[in-house]
Amino acid sequence: MAHETETQTDDATPPNGKTVRESQIVMARSMQPPDADVWGNVHGGAILRLVDEAGGAVAIRHSRCRCVTVAMDSMIFKQPVYIGDLLTITACLTYVGRTSMEVEARIEAEDMRTGVRRHAGTSYLIYVAIDDLGRPTPVPPLILETQEERDRWQAAEERRARRRQQ
Ligand SMILES: CC(C)(COP(=O)(O)OP(=O)(O)OC[C@H]1O[C@@H](n2cnc3c(N)ncnc32)[C@H](O)[C@@H]1OP(=O)(O)O)[C@@H](O)C(=O)NCCC(=O)NCCS
Repeated sequence: MAHETETQTDDATPPNGKTVRESQIVMARSMQPPDADVWGNVHGGAILRLVDEAGGAVAIRHSRCRCVTVAMDSMIFKQPVYIGDLLTITACLTYVGRTSMEVEARIEAEDMRTGVRRHAGTSYLIYVAIDDLGRPTPVPPLILETQEERDRWQAAEERRARRRQQ
């Protein structure tokens, strides 16, 4: 069932909404020695780079435009990630504004020998679609199909309000 998104009256707004499923991705990469310190712990920055890459792909697939990262919420790494782990990032849209999009990226690390998976953390990133002159440009509205997607939208609206206060 289609869910109403924010009312968008701008003439330049693309008319057709797109679902969360149309842009969501799963990205996986095994962690290598250059990703880690001398003790084998993967650098937070190496993980964040992959998270940003995954989030950017979601934003581009939704908008079919160039997108830039405008913000990334603070992130807590709940579990260490080691060389040899398979890092999987599951990324999907939670909220779409006029030109901006929030992506949730869930990070899991799997010990490939044992199959044990750990939730390493979850990050929220904001992307803005830009035109050829680097100006923010409207993106399609988001069609919410499930209760989970509606709950995520609600939580994203609350984060957006908190960011604005900051
Ligand atoms: C992204 C950028 C074009 C936005 O420019 P701007 O003048 O702030 O544009 P606007 O005020 O029209 O805002 C555009 C959208 O971004 C959102 N936005 C802007 N700053 C934000 C912030 N700090 N946090 C969350 N959203 C933000 C606005 O809410 C708006 O969303 P909406 O259209 O869905 O309502 C500009 O900030 C930029 O180029 N930043 C650099 C991005 C970049 O290069 N990133 C790579 C890493 S450095």
